[in-house]
This record gives sequence, structure tokens and C-alpha cells, in this order.
Amino acid sequence: MAQEQEYDRAKNSKVHYLNFNKKNFKEKNFSKKNDQHAQENSLAKTIRDFIVANKPNIPVYCVRPHAIKRAAKFFVKNFSHTKFDSSILYSVKSNSDRSVLQNLFDSGISKFDVASLFEIKLIDELFAKKAKMFFMHPVKSREAIKSAYFDFHIRDFSLDSFDELEKILEVTKDAKDLNLHVRLAIPNSHSVIDLSGKFGILPSGATALVRKTRAVAKKLGICFHVGSQCMDPVEYRNAVNTAKEVIKKARVRLDVLDVGGGFPSIYPTMTPLGMSSYFDEIFEAIQQAEFGNNCEIWCEPGRALVAEAVSLVVRVEARKQNMLYINDGTYGGLFDAGFPGFIYPTQAIRIKNPKTLESEKTAFGFYGPTCDSMDSMKGPFSLPENIAEGDYIEIGQLGAYSRSIRTEFNGFGEVMQIEVDEEPIDSMYISQDHNCESSSKKI
Ligand SMILES: Cc1ncc(COP(=O)(O)O)c(C=O)c1O
Repeated sequence: MAQEQEYDRAKNSKVHYLNFNKKNFKEKNFSKKNDQHAQENSLAKTIRDFIVANKPNIPVYCVRPHAIKRAAKFFVKNFSHTKFDSSILYSVKSNSDRSVLQNLFDSGISKFDVASLFEIKLIDELFAKKAKMFFMHPVKSREAIKSAYFDFHIRDFSLDSFDELEKILEVTKDAKDLNLHVRLAIPNSHSVIDLSGKFGILPSGATALVRKTRAVAKKLGICFHVGSQCMDPVEYRNAVNTAKEVIKKARVRLDVLDVGGGFPSIYPTMTPLGMSSYFDEIFEAIQQAEFGNNCEIWCEPGRALVAEAVSLVVRVEARKQNMLYINDGTYGGLFDAGFPGFIYPTQAIRIKNPKTLESEKTAFGFYGPTCDSMDSMKGPFSLPENIAEGDYIEIGQLGAYSRSIRTEFNGFGEVMQIEVDEEPIDSMYISQDHNCESSSKKI
């Protein structure tokens, strides 16, 4: 019952969808006033057109289906090696919006890294048997394991302790068809978001756990996470080498090496190497590690598949010197702009007399809409010197860890979502020759 209630949250969420690119656009939960505006402007061609026509008083997510598809196809084509079977598991936590999931699925991503029963039910509802799920959260409740195994036929689980292994075995009644993935704790020294403290067993103490897991698992996997927004591909090589040492010491056969997420997107102060450099480093290290040709290679990207495909348009409600009070913040879609302090690309939109926006740019900080002083984002966000109340700001690269972590704190949280075919503000996947090669060129 509790699970059903949790699932209902998705259906009742405060999100108004509409698609103005298609003539027969669909909308849900859209207020009468806004609905009328939207219908009148259903043929708007750009984000600017939409904003000018609708003057939205809530934040607007602008989803670019073509950019999701481009990133997915890039991974499908390039995260591969002639000697190994490879798989891409989309990490649902980074953005669990249905249209995002559908676009990924339509582009060849049919495997999903899930962390909760909520995510499991969502994927099951959308794709049923056409999708395969992997429960890669190293600490799970007994109820979640039970339902995942018996109701949703999930066979892949990660773990990082003897206790979790025992739990999985007890709940599944010592099932013989489990694929169990031991999560290693590895340094996250080149990543913006360090995930090394909370999960993973230290490689130096992993031998006994790996052996015991091998003894009960149909397939044994090793997985790790280099930390989110990893800025140096060598971090993956180091982690692969650590996995190699663990397997060598345990003297067991490895069936799956899962190199996790961490693949970067591009932000104003972070321009990573092209995505191919990451794949090259990984597959070269794996070849040298000699896990055997039957070892499958998996990855679990979140950010890299969706970040650049979605931007968020907010409205300036007030200005005090170089601080802008905007209608979304750290309790909404801008959590990462607070802590760890991501700096996102920004573009101003002025409704009346757009030419009066100065071309000279200045550094601004943001305050979010709640009455909480932690709802602040120091930036710097680069915007026209004379930006003012009533102007809008498109904030780019917000496809990952934005929609999925919104709250309704202090009565805020309502958003609108539209689909657009404009290009993202920045891209990892558009090269100079438009050949869909990994490139961190600003477009
Ligand atoms: C288990 C697991 N896999 C994959 C991801 C996706 O990471 P990223 O968005 O950095 O690719 C995460 C995110 O923290 C995670 O916890």
C-alpha cells in the first residue's frame, strides 16, 4: 500500500507538460489561463518565442529530444569494443522524467540502473519486458529486494558488505540465478561530486567478500563509481587497475566489470576532454587488465546522457546590486548551484525591447524563491549588466540532477515542461564537422 502511494506521487506531481513543437500538442494539469496562452502559441519556434508569448510565472524546463537522442546514440555507437560485450545502463536517478526516459529508450538505451522501487515501477510501467533493470544501490531495504526479485524479476544487485550479501540471499531464499556486483570504494579525486565515502568496500579488504559472492552468484561483477562529473579519464584507468588487483588477489573469475557513471558534461568553468578519450582510456585499461574475453563491460551514465538536453528558464523577481532573486533555487531545480556550486551557462531573455539588454556581461549570484537563506547560489553567472525584474534567464545544462531532486519546500516547486528543437547552449556531442564526434567545443 505504501508503495502504491509513493508511486501515485508521480502522477500527481506539480508539472505541467506541453509540447509546442507538435501541432496537436498535449498538455496535462495546465491552468486555464496558461493553457489559453499555450494554445495560441502552439507554433512557437524558439524558447524565446514561447517565453514572450506566455510570460510564464513558474520555471519552465525546455527538453530537447534530439539532444537526448544524439547523446544516447553516441554512447551506443562508441561505448563498445570488438573483444568485449558491452552494455549501457542509464542511471535513472539523474533524470526520471518520462519523456526523457522514452527518448533514451527510442535511441537504443533499454537497460536501466535503478535505486528504488519507485524507479523500478516507473521503468516497468513505461517499457515492461522490453527493458532490463539492474538494482545497483549497494544498500537496499528487504522489501525492495523482495519486490524487485519476485515481482519485477530483477536478477542484478550490487552490494558492498557481507551484511548486504546475506540480506539479498535471505530475501531471495538463496536464489541460484543472482548476478551480484561488488562495489569497490575508489578515490574520486578528479570528480566534482565525491561518492567515495558513502558506498563501496575498500579494495584492500575486498578479497573475502569477492570470494564469498563468487561462490553464490551466477555472475560475479565488480562495480565502482569514479564520482560525478569526472574531469580526468585516467581516473577510470586507475579504477580498472584496482579492480584487476582485487580479482587477482581473490583468484576468481570475473563476469562483469561495471565502470559506473561519472562521465562529464560541459559547463562554463569545466571543459572536459571529448567523451571518446574516456572510452579509449577505459577499454585500453581493460584490455591490459586481461579479465578474459568473456568478461562483459558495462557503464552507468546519468549526467552525460541528459545534462545538455534540458535547460531551465527562470524569471527575475527582484534585483539587489549583483544578486538576482529568481523563481527557482536550491530547493527546486538548482540544487547543484548551491552546493557543490556548479556554474551553469546563462542567457537573458527580455520580453519588451530586447535590444535594450546590454551586451556587456557582469557576474551575478542568485537567490531562490523560498524564505530560506540557504537558498542561494553564488555563481558567478554571467548576464547583461542591466538585467532587471521581469527579465527571464535560460540556464543551460540542467538535464541531470535538477528535475529529479526538486522539492515543494515553502510552497514552491510548480514547473512547466516544454519540448524544443533548439540546440543546447553547450554540447559534448556536436563537433565542428557535425559528425556526432565527442567534442567539448562551445557551439
Ligand atoms: C550507482 C550509480 N550509478 C550511476 C550514477 C550516475 O552517475 P553520473 O550521473 O555521474 O554519470 C550514479 C550517480 O550518482 C550512481 O549512484
